[in-house]
Amino acid sequence: MSIVKINAISVPKDKQERFEERFRGRAGAVEATEGFEWFELLRPQEGTDQYLVYTRWSSEEAYRAWESGQDFARAHDGGGSDLAPAASDSHHLWSYEVLESTGPKSGTV
Ligand code: HEM
Repeated sequence: MSIVKINAISVPKDKQERFEERFRGRAGAVEATEGFEWFELLRPQEGTDQYLVYTRWSSEEAYRAWESGQDFARAHDGGGSDLAPAASDSHHLWSYEVLESTGPKSGTV
């Protein structure tokens, strides 16, 4: 069963542009990680300043291996910025199991 790890990061308005720019230049290493299934960066539309970094994995172990490995460390090497280093306390990591999942029926779009 797949699992989902969502990192919810509060980003003040004046830092959103820089934050999104950083993700445009992200390492791109997660795609090549064993057990990785999906990534989406979700921009808040209303009522919150929390961006969601949605990731899906084949197992908890696969996520933990990535999170404790060098690719994660490199992807979060902030170079002094207050938005990238994992030292920030303005984030929450949410863990879920995928119970159901679907997409559009092929041939209907
Ligand atoms: C305080 C904690 C965190 C902050 C502030 C943060 C912020 C960022 C930023 C700004 C980037 C873009 C690359 C860069 O500029 O460094 C990034 C990359 C990424 N982050 Fe985080 N992050 C945090 C922790 C996490 C956690 C716990 C997850 C787990 C879901 C996660 C998932 C990702 C992924 C998948 C990427 C892309 C890596 C790649 O392209 O290989 N982040 N993060």
